[in-house]
Amino acid sequence: MARAASRVGVPVCVSTMSVAPIEDIAAASTSPPWFQLYVWDDREATYGLINRVKSVGVEVLVVTVDGPVNGNREYNIRNGFGFPFQPSAKALLDIARHPSWTISVLGRQVVYRKGIALPHFPEGRQRGAICTTASLTWDDIRTLRGLWRGKLLLKGILHPADAQFARKVGVDGIIVSNHGARNLDSAPSPLEMLPTIANENGDEIAILLDSGIRRGSDIFKALACGAHGVMVGRAPLWGLAAGGEQGAYDILCLLLRELDRTMGHAGCCDLNDVDQSRLVFDDT
Ligand SMILES: Cc1cc2nc3c(=O)[nH]c(=O)nc-3n(C[C@H](O)[C@H](O)[C@H](O)COP(=O)(O)O)c2cc1C
Repeated sequence: MARAASRVGVPVCVSTMSVAPIEDIAAASTSPPWFQLYVWDDREATYGLINRVKSVGVEVLVVTVDGPVNGNREYNIRNGFGFPFQPSAKALLDIARHPSWTISVLGRQVVYRKGIALPHFPEGRQRGAICTTASLTWDDIRTLRGLWRGKLLLKGILHPADAQFARKVGVDGIIVSNHGARNLDSAPSPLEMLPTIANENGDEIAILLDSGIRRGSDIFKALACGAHGVMVGRAPLWGLAAGGEQGAYDILCLLLRELDRTMGHAGCCDLNDVDQSRLVFDDT
């Protein structure tokens, strides 16, 4: 993913939960990756991780704030997905039916990391960690602001009051997101909340949006509603799963081509032309 993003000229954001270490991803990227931080209950360990990502050149820290408790992912119960990996007949059959994935993904983990592990976690917690943000408060964000000299973004803001608070605490930007609707299925869509948040804060902090970007026209709508940019999750991940680096690259190019085409149809020659006047709102 890092190589595909570098080819397109966009940064990749590495999760605390990543099975590949930030050092390897930074080495594969032409510009420094961003790092998504889950603040652990053990604050000293969290600050240690921050120093580690700083030392490999990370300049943008994305603090996820929308996981006070775990989501109730019934699909994971149904399909038997869990961490640590629970062997079952269904899982073994699945592995047997995907030999290429087994060799290139699972095999690599087994050879280089002796199994699936979370290399950003402290020793002893790398094979079974779960992240929630239950103990996170605005005081933590103030502390992080003091510790981190690079860009600091909060990911998972949906309420306009939280967006205002984030701005006052001094973060550089927010990511309006409902975590891809993976945490609370009744959460509003970020696109619904974006116009109010952007109108109130857009001149003073960077506003990004994620969750549900599947087409370049979705990027267009987010930009028109006041986002300065978007982040994408599953779209390139599906490309990656299907076709590796080239698959992810193809999806990123597809999104950019679709954005260009939508701009053309809407009469926009420049990204600065993309604004709410290009949209029709349904007031019903
Ligand atoms: C498989 C998967 C794992 C994710 N892991 C994390 C994570 O570790 N930290 C985080 O902040 N968000 C995580 N997310 C949420 C994404 O960062 C992002 O908010 C969401 O996927 C965006 O929606 P989209 O997939 O529709 O583009 C994950 C999403 C997926 C699909």
